[in-house]
Amino acid sequence: MKIGVLGSGNGSNFQAVADAIERGDLKGVTVSVVISDNPDAYILERAKKMGIKALYINPGGYKTKLEPDIEKQYACALKDNQVELVVLAGFMRMVKDYLLSPYKGRIVNIHPSLLPAFTGLDSFRQAYDYGVKITGCTVHFVDSGMDTGPIIGQRCVPIYEDDTPEKVHARIQKEEHILYPACIQFIADNKVSIAGRRVKIYNSDNRINNLL
Ligand code: GRF
Repeated sequence: MKIGVLGSGNGSNFQAVADAIERGDLKGVTVSVVISDNPDAYILERAKKMGIKALYINPGGYKTKLEPDIEKQYACALKDNQVELVVLAGFMRMVKDYLLSPYKGRIVNIHPSLLPAFTGLDSFRQAYDYGVKITGCTVHFVDSGMDTGPIIGQRCVPIYEDDTPEKVHARIQKEEHILYPACIQFIADNKVSIAGRRVKIYNSDNRINNLL
């Protein structure tokens, strides 16, 4: 299965997926292209270092989504690289129809909270400020809402008395780097189906999700 990764920043989740492929832990998957809306995103450097095609596509004038014509360009670049699954990895824009319709049920995202709690930006900080004792990360299919698509997997982490939002995010990211490759493996193996809001994973034994 060929994947295309969209990211705007550091790219540690992309790195975790690419490393899992290199180690042979994530089987039957190749990254055909990494695309960023930010020319300075470290995710592009990481891709180049690994010999993976890295593209910057100017996102246009909107802040939270792509202009329709530009979203078409993103979709074309993904198709040109035979991408079958679009993996959002810290991509800071909402995805709309020109990506959603050619890739219906084939776009996934990772979010740093236990959805449906704390959608949107800086979710780890929202969770910390709210005072929850347990938070985590979620991998989900992408629909037209903000962080609302059907949930594939979740892993949790504790929030301690003497924590900071940054420490919480670092703890969450460790779990993200386990969860994302695991979810992608199940999709590559055709073990994932969506029925309404519920995602069924065949033979998973719930192993991708953790308990404290
Ligand atoms: C992650 O915490 C992810 O959950 C969120 O954005 C962050 C991206 O981190 N969507 P990285 O660029 O993969 O390091």
